[in-house]
Formats: sequence, structure tokens, C-alpha cells
Amino acid sequence: MKKPAPQVTPEARVEQLREQIRHHDQRYYVLHDPEIADREYDRLFQELRDLEAQHPELRSPDSPTQKVGADPVEGFAEARHDPPLLSLENGYDEQEIRDWYQRLLSHLKLEELPSPLVAEPKLDGISLKVCYEDGAFAIGATRGNGEAGEDVSANVRTIRSLPLRLQSPAPTHLDVRGEVILGLREFEELNQHLKERGEKVYANPRNLAGGTLRQLDPKLTASRKLDVFFYVIGRVDGKELSSHWDALEWLEARGLPTLRQHSCRGTLDEILAHYRKLLDGRDQFPLEMDGVVLKVDDFELQKALGVRSRSPRWAIAYKFPARQATTRIEEIFVQVGRNGTLTPVARLEAVPLSGVTITSATLHNKDEIERLGVRIGDAVLIERAGDVIPKVIQVIESRRTGRERPFHFPAACPVCETEVASTEDEVAIRCPNLRCPARVKKQIEHFVGRNAMDIEGLGDKLIEQLVDTERVRSAADLYTLTEDSLVDLERMAKKSAQNLLKQIESSKTRPLARFLFALGIPFIGETVAEAIAEHVRNLAGLKAVDRDDLVEIHGVGPKAAESLHDFVASDGGQTLVQELEAAGIRPAEPAAPVESGPLTGKSFLFTGTLAGMTRDEAGSEVKARGGRVVSGVSKKLDYLVAGERAGSKLKKAQALEIAVLDLEAFQRLLTENPGPDSSDP
Ligand code: IVH
Repeated sequence: MKKPAPQVTPEARVEQLREQIRHHDQRYYVLHDPEIADREYDRLFQELRDLEAQHPELRSPDSPTQKVGADPVEGFAEARHDPPLLSLENGYDEQEIRDWYQRLLSHLKLEELPSPLVAEPKLDGISLKVCYEDGAFAIGATRGNGEAGEDVSANVRTIRSLPLRLQSPAPTHLDVRGEVILGLREFEELNQHLKERGEKVYANPRNLAGGTLRQLDPKLTASRKLDVFFYVIGRVDGKELSSHWDALEWLEARGLPTLRQHSCRGTLDEILAHYRKLLDGRDQFPLEMDGVVLKVDDFELQKALGVRSRSPRWAIAYKFPARQATTRIEEIFVQVGRNGTLTPVARLEAVPLSGVTITSATLHNKDEIERLGVRIGDAVLIERAGDVIPKVIQVIESRRTGRERPFHFPAACPVCETEVASTEDEVAIRCPNLRCPARVKKQIEHFVGRNAMDIEGLGDKLIEQLVDTERVRSAADLYTLTEDSLVDLERMAKKSAQNLLKQIESSKTRPLARFLFALGIPFIGETVAEAIAEHVRNLAGLKAVDRDDLVEIHGVGPKAAESLHDFVASDGGQTLVQELEAAGIRPAEPAAPVESGPLTGKSFLFTGTLAGMTRDEAGSEVKARGGRVVSGVSKKLDYLVAGERAGSKLKKAQALEIAVLDLEAFQRLLTENPGPDSSDP
């Protein structure tokens, strides 16, 4: 966020801030399409609050600090909220949470809090209020500006996890608040579906949940798998409750879903430990969580603490490190990938994001640039999910100055200047030149990689020199290098040249599966390569492979089969394999398959990082016992072995209720089912 220029008067700045906040409220609350990161919004809000505190004469009843959000849009009937639905104060680090706790104590004039705290996931969805009359669902309304939202009852009724009737004994009246969300898996599936039909795709599950809840056609809403979790009671007649935790249990007993299972009741330190646990598990959690909400458990104390204008004093949202940030696009350039795909990449004004400094983000392809309407110089919202490369989510159009320039996708490869090609059924635009230096460099980087031919000492810089000086035009040329052709390169002493040649030489007999993976054929990943290697056995078998054969192999999908077949049939593919053979490459044949063992008939899939064991090793252990290693999660999978930082495969397996083993359980299974070697010490 830019600091206000010094000549701006407090009066003008206050007006500016109010304008901006109103605009962002509208984007967030009404359109479910925010342009800026929460943290930045909070900063604007805080700046306005501070200015109003310093200059009481500038206060105004219509300032956003005096109300809760923006106005509802037309289309649904208005639903008034009385009392208004509050929001939450945010904290971003442990100190801010400890400060909040101290404020609780000083407000209560106590040394110690005579009540536990509760910590529960803060779901990133759409806030909803539901009313039940005599146990029957009556109204479902969005929060809107806190005072009035929209009556979306017809849509809310379609949410499967929402009971239309409460379990008895039901209270005479119940107002309960919760969050409507779309699970991450459902989000991906639905977006994929929308994309295939050429409709608008959504940046995140929250926006899609919001869009769905505000659909005018409830049938459409019903077809999308929305979910709801409840976290606070607004009003209840005919039931006495004394604490938040009890209230959650009581809601569950009435049939209303809560997140109590993932919550914790305890001291401040226990709550902080729970925050760290949830943060660590964030990428495995099937719902989008953007923090943890801390609440004072005891209702008497909640009442004593009371509320501020927008939020209760007895609760705070301890936000997770942001995955989103706002920055500016300085330039857009195009990268050429291993298979010739041109990927537009935005160079960004450096911005910190969940612990790292981000200077670039992918724009995926030409269609995505058009969809985003992005121009060079635009202020943009970027997002980093899990470990993946940051991506541009949205253009902040309200920050356009008129000096932004449109980006034109190049008609020729930026590296070799060959005219680009694209096929109708593909969004990708490619450089068709197999000898394009950019492609060759990337291919060789992949070829020598640790999981491929594993040639140590051949780093990206060296590859660049070798390709730029035309000593290497394809992977096969690596095997023609000599000491003489290496020593005149930068930073290449005689000794390192000799070492490198030794490494190259020893790579000639790497296992066939690694060789196959090293070729960099689209859709042929490590596990698929292994399945194919086991089937074809050697280079001769590989060259003779046919498509129908391939699809029969367990773990080889139609895309991979097609892709390998195309490669083997292509001039480029045949030449490369012939050249490599001529250079003396003799990949090692895979071990003979174990006919039967204790794990015969069982399939395994590995995901995440397995501490102290490579995937190759883990796979060999399974195979030595007659088991199979497969490449994708399906209903037929027997075990998913999940290491650290397991991602979407874990989520999918959990959804399909497949047995998930951590490394320890996997090792136990191996010990309990000894293979041929282990029985003979
Ligand atoms: S309690 C009076 N608990 O976060 C207190 N809110 O940023 C009301 N939210 O408007 C909120 N998970 O939409 C509460 N476990 C949780 C929550 C939660 C998500 C949302 C809610 C609220 C927003 C504030």
C-alpha cells in the first residue's frame, strides 16, 4: 500500500479512504469478488480509524467505521438482521493475540480469565444466518452489510447438510449463524466443469460458494454441493445454554453441523498450540480455512465483555499467513517450456507473501490473459496456494491510471523466432521447433535430473553454456562430450570435466524406467514410466510397443498411452532414441516381477515426502512383496501412503474412504508382511 502523498490533507485522505473502503465492501460483501487481500483492507480500515480518532471533527455517521459493510443487491428480498450480525477483529501474529487476551483481562479487571477459550477453524466461505421456528427451517439469509442481507431461503434449503427440521427437543425459536462453503474438491470439479462449458470460472471456493448461494435458480444451487457449518447462536428461545462449547454440542444434537471435531477448548497456550496444528494441516484440510477463531467460552463473560461497533470483544480471528497479496505487473514475458508450450509470466513489483518474496507469477496461457483482461502496469491480486507457483487472480480495475499497456501474445517464439503453432482443441500455444534452444535446455535439465538420469554436476548454468555454444543440441549429444570440449567453458577445471564425464558415463545403465521418464514425454511421469518399463522390459520392447498393449497396463491411462505411442511413432522420438542407443545407452532391465507375495493383489500409491526413504525404495519394497504401485487415486486403490506435505491426492483418497498410511504405519505393514529378502537375514 502506498503511503499518502504528504500534500494530502487529513480531510482529503479520510474521504479517499472511505471511498476505497466502500468500494471494497461492495466487492467483498455484495459481489463476492474481492479485489484486494484482507490484510490490505484491514490496513485501510485501521488508517481511517486512526485518522478519525486523531481528528474528531472529521467523524461522520456514514463513515464505514460506523457500519458493517455494503448494501445488498437487488434480486432477492431483503432480510433484516436484528440485532446486526457482527464481524470479527483480526490478529496476524501471536503477539496480537496475547495483546487481545490482555485487553480481555483489563476490561474485566481480572488477573486471570475464569473461563477457557475455544479455538475453531475459520472457514473462508459466505456468512449465513438461519432461523428455525418450532424446529422447522424458516429463513436463510446472507449477512449483507450486517444489518440487512438477502433472503436466500430457497437456495439454502437445497444444502444437503442443512436439516429442514431440527431433532427434538427443538427450541421454539432459533437464530443460528454459520458459514456456507464449497469443499476444495467440489470447487475444482465444478470449476473444471464450468471451464469445459466455456463459462466463467471462479478464483476460489469462497467466490463460487457466494455465486452459488445467490443463484436465482435454486435447482442450479441444488446441483452444486454446498455445505454449511454453524458457529454461533444469535438467539434461542426455550433453551438455556451457558457456554460456547455446550452450545456447539447442543447444535450438533439438534442435527446442525459444526466444526467442534476440529476445535479445541483450553488455556491460551493450548489454544495457540491448536492454531499451529491447524496451520500445519492446512493443506490437507478439505475445506478452505483462512485462520482460527478464538472465543471466550463462558457466556456470562461474553456478556460482560460486550461488543464494539463491528465485532464482539470476546472473539478474535487469528488469521493464517496470507496466500494473497496485491502488487503491480511491471512486465509480461513469455517462457518456452520443455514441450514448446509458451507460458506468459508476469514480472511483479516484489511483494512478501506467506514468508517468501514474490517477484513473478504465472498467467498460464493466452486465454487466461484474456479472461483476466490483464495489462502491463496493472495492479493485481495474486495468490499462492500450497507450494505452487503464485498466480494472478484478478486485476484491480479501480486502480487503473490509463497508462497501462495491453499485452500482445507473440506470433513467433521469443527464443528461436519460429512462428508459433496452436491446435484448436488446446489452449496452449507452442513453439514447434524441436531444436529451439529454450526447449533443448529445459529438456536437458529434465533429462539429467535426480529422478531421471541423475547426472550430478550438470547444473542449469552449464547446460545453458553447452546449448548456447552449440556443443549440445539434444540429450544424446551429452554422450559425445570430451574433456577437450569441456575445459574451455567458464569455471570448468580439468578435474571437474573428468568428474562430469564419469557421471555421464555411469548414467548409461540407469534403470529403464528412469530413462523413459528422462525422455520427457508428456503424461509419462515416474510411476507411469515404471509400469511401462516393467511391461516393455528393454529398449527393443519400448520401440515395438503398441497403443492397445499400453492401455492394458495397470496404471497407464489413455492419455499416457496415446502420448507414448505418438512419441515412439514420431521422427523426433525415433531419432532421439536411436542417437541415445548409438551413444552407448543400455538401460538396466527392471527386476523380474514377483509372482506372488504377501501383498499380491494390493495396490499402493505414494504421495508427499517420505522422510528417510525415496519413492523408488518404497515402491521396490511393495513390489518385492507382490504388490503394485499405481499413479492415481481411484476407488480401487488399496493404500495411500502419505508423507509430509501430501496434497490433493490425500484429499481425494480421504473422500473415497481409502486406507491412508503414514510412513510409520507403512513400515509396520512391511515388517508384518516380510518379503523374500527380509525372511532371510
Ligand atoms: S464467529 C459474533 N466463528 O468470519 C461472531 N465466524 O471475518 C461472529 N467465520 O463474519 C463470527 N468461521 O462469516 C465465527 N468459526 C467461526 C467462523 C466465522 C468463519 C466468518 C464469519 C464472520 C467472518 C469474520
